[in-house]
Amino acid sequence: MVKIAPSILSADFSRLLEHVKEVERAGVEYLHIDVMDGHFVPNISFGAPILKSLKGKTKLFTDVHLMIENPDLYVKDFVDAGADLINVHIEACPHIHRTIQLIKSYGVRAAVTLNPGTPIHTLEEILPELDMVLLMSVNPGFGGQSYIKSTTDKIVRLKKMIKDAGLNCEIEVDGGINLDNVREVVTAGADIIVAGSAIFNTPNIDETVKAFRQRL
Ligand code: DX5
Ligand code: ZN
Repeated sequence: MVKIAPSILSADFSRLLEHVKEVERAGVEYLHIDVMDGHFVPNISFGAPILKSLKGKTKLFTDVHLMIENPDLYVKDFVDAGADLINVHIEACPHIHRTIQLIKSYGVRAAVTLNPGTPIHTLEEILPELDMVLLMSVNPGFGGQSYIKSTTDKIVRLKKMIKDAGLNCEIEVDGGINLDNVREVVTAGADIIVAGSAIFNTPNIDETVKAFRQRL
């Protein structure tokens, strides 16, 4: 079953818990936590304290997307704050094998994220170590951008690469996903879809989540 991961980046931070409860009631599986440092990406969002503020208040699986330099320095903070899975960008990790082992040493799931311009062959050696690969379908930094069409073929190729290697690694896709293109993303092979603005910037979150579910 395909999982839905609303990104709280597009939530109203003054009503964060309310918004989280709303998507939880609507039946999503994951909560996508977009962390930006203003260096790796040209925007600053929030850090571990925001995740910690939700700890124990939601049953949703927390999927942390670190768009930051030197992620090794902050992995423990996010684990302590309640992360269930940590995504690090391959472009930010010169020692990706070490970083993945570090994440796993805390007993949480580990994933590698690729920017739109990063080819999937960069995953070749690390793939057997991963629980998930996150393919960016926009250049990271902002919510509300348009889906980059070539991602669809990239998902198909990654799915084949995982299958050919006999692995169980899941594929998450993030950026510009909406009701009009979600079917294309899922048909290509996405196991988890992230949606920020398409879920939170709608008048009725419950109806929007149900509309997404119908298209999966
Ligand atoms: C982009 C973030 C995404 C983003 C998704 O830098 O990683 O998770 O918030 O937002 P939408 O769905 O609005 O593109
Ligand atoms: Zn994200």
